[in-house]
Amino acid sequence: MLPIVLIHGFPLDGAMWHHQADFLRARGYEVLTPDLAGFGNPPTSVPPEKTSATMEGYAREVREIILRLPGQRAVVGGFSMGGYVMLALLRESPELVAGAMFIDTRAETDTPEGRATRLKSIEHMQTHGTGNLLDSLCQRLFRKTSPLPAVIEETRQIMRRQPVDAVIAAQWAMAHRRDQTDLLPSLQMPALIVVGEEDMITPPASAEAMAARLANHKLVRIPNAGHMAPVEQPEMVNRAIGDFAAHV
Ligand code: MLT
Repeated sequence: MLPIVLIHGFPLDGAMWHHQADFLRARGYEVLTPDLAGFGNPPTSVPPEKTSATMEGYAREVREIILRLPGQRAVVGGFSMGGYVMLALLRESPELVAGAMFIDTRAETDTPEGRATRLKSIEHMQTHGTGNLLDSLCQRLFRKTSPLPAVIEETRQIMRRQPVDAVIAAQWAMAHRRDQTDLLPSLQMPALIVVGEEDMITPPASAEAMAARLANHKLVRIPNAGHMAPVEQPEMVNRAIGDFAAHV
């Protein structure tokens, strides 16, 4: 069985995957949930300097992790920003990825307005920390129908503990990331796309746009879930990932 590497979103750390890691480990998989540079509880590495932070840089960290595995290949999953990192890895080193799981993410880059909002949020964080960003994210991360307070609080706690410098660097890297839609048709490995039906950040339309370009894919929509499908509907996401990994 190939190891599984799960890349976290923004501004989170590897702990966001605890449901999936427990589920997959119970089925015998080796599961790695690395913290990207500067993230973690506590962080074990320093964040890149803001203006040198790139998706390619984060992808190199994941590449190093896969190269240390015995077979130098893994099934890789990326949630949201983790998906942007996985796309950068797929562009540089597709041979390391036996199966690619795109979880509530997208291949397109930001709109000019989206990029401007990120740069403004960086300016604000430099003086005031991450509080405002987390408040505004929490408005959009979760399903609107019957949101789950315990799940929101758990996610907020993970976000709150991330150092401001790491959050700023990742926000910068996302604002300057390239569009990856042209890469998708060249990817030959099996792909899984998972999207919460109520995802407002990387909506089902983005998942469908990826599906239209990926040769060998399965698209799974998660009902009653927003962007944070892995924690809002862990059982459904676990099943999708488990079925996919079993067939890679
Ligand atoms: C994430 O969940 O990783 C981010 O919200 C993605 C983004 O801001 O584009």
